[in-house]
Amino acid sequence: MNSNCVSSRRGQIWPPKSGGGNLNHDRINRGYFRVLVLFILVTLAACFMFSNNLSEKCFQFLPSSFYNISFSRSDNSNVYAGKANDENSLGSILKKASMKDKKTVIITTLNAAWTEPNSIFDLFLESFRIGNQTESLLKHVVVVALDQKAYSRCLEVHLHCYALTIAGLDHSSGQAHFMSKDYLKMMWRRIDFLRTVLELGYDFVFTDADVTWLRNPFPRFYPDGDFQISCDRYRYNSTYLNNSPNGGFNYVKANNRTVQFYKFWYTGRDYFPGKHDQDVLDMIKFNPFIKEIGLKMRFLDTAYFGGFCQPSKDLDLVITMHANCCSRLESKIHDIKMVIEDWKKYMALPLRDERNLSPRTWTLKRICSYG
Ligand SMILES: *[C@@H]1O[C@H](CO)[C@@H](O)[C@H](O)[C@H]1NC(C)=O
Ligand SMILES: *[C@@H]1O[C@H](CO)[C@@H](O)[C@H](O)[C@H]1NC(C)=O
Ligand SMILES: *[C@@H]1O[C@H](CO)[C@@H](O)[C@H](O)[C@H]1NC(C)=O
Ligand SMILES: *[C@@H]1O[C@H](CO)[C@@H](O)[C@H](O)[C@H]1NC(C)=O
Repeated sequence: MNSNCVSSRRGQIWPPKSGGGNLNHDRINRGYFRVLVLFILVTLAACFMFSNNLSEKCFQFLPSSFYNISFSRSDNSNVYAGKANDENSLGSILKKASMKDKKTVIITTLNAAWTEPNSIFDLFLESFRIGNQTESLLKHVVVVALDQKAYSRCLEVHLHCYALTIAGLDHSSGQAHFMSKDYLKMMWRRIDFLRTVLELGYDFVFTDADVTWLRNPFPRFYPDGDFQISCDRYRYNSTYLNNSPNGGFNYVKANNRTVQFYKFWYTGRDYFPGKHDQDVLDMIKFNPFIKEIGLKMRFLDTAYFGGFCQPSKDLDLVITMHANCCSRLESKIHDIKMVIEDWKKYMALPLRDERNLSPRTWTLKRICSYG
């Protein structure tokens, strides 16, 4: 970011030189300043008249530092740890975390309860290390911390951490019970945040931290899907709208359709007060607006993207395993550990033949129901 530009420009006008001899100098500067302001106003007015895409077209006339400052302000800069705005600027974190060949990142959100040692976050990171060719994906994971504790823990063990603030939320407690007011606020803030990521031009995989990553999901995504989402239960095919989507794992391409869709989804917060983003999605998936904007929605098969509601049966196919249908934290942790143990045993079988002979499904007993 080029902040020199701002300070040197400011240096010409402010502070004024001391002493009484430079009245003229001041006048000249003021005149110059007026002309500059007028120029900016005229440019903006012209932009408003001729363009409906303000942010892209108009602000390019301004020095880039103006443009970037206004962005990092609205980014919701870091209130935790007293860090500078720049270090927590979303744009720069996404840029660092992005895959080099395509603008793509992997995003997860974390709160204090899930960052305790030996808790969900540690198991999440471990899964990348034991998964088949998933370790290299870790450097693309952006951890969005929802409170101070999660943020500090992230900084200790991970590369890309972003502190997201949520208006009116008690950040100190770090606990938000399922469907409580704070919980709903967090869920909706997440939708709004992901829209910002799309607007910055990044495709993303959003993953809850209780999703165990066992294989690289990218080859399995549909080439023609804008918005692809995992399911609690999968029926018939990937376009069948009666599939029950689960917001805990999805792949979204950045384009006008998905930005419009996320905006639309977010308005559901006011339309259906007290509802979870996932419940709202389950209703709006039928809405004619989706067809109108041409959004291609795809549901991901639980044979690959499974969960405790409907587990993948074949370890040769499974890509991710979500600890859904499981609300008690201790049970979740126990069952994710079972998944990881089973996967380690499977990966330890040295030969293809041996794998074929042994059971290729989960063997260890989980506590959470099969639903
Ligand atoms: C804002 O800063 C980023 C680097 O931090 C730079 O790549 C980008 O071009 C800047 N934006 C503008 C409009 O100059
Ligand atoms: C792991 O990935 C490699 C490369 O894609 C593949 O050849 C191998 O069969 C995979 N192993 C398992 C257990 O899926
Ligand atoms: C998907 O399944 C539904 C329900 O069986 C069916 O109506 C629809 O035609 C199927 N679509 C495709 C593309 O196969
Ligand atoms: C998105 O919209 C802008 C203007 O509204 C247009 O210039 C651009 O081509 C669109 N992008 C896509 C991918 O359709």
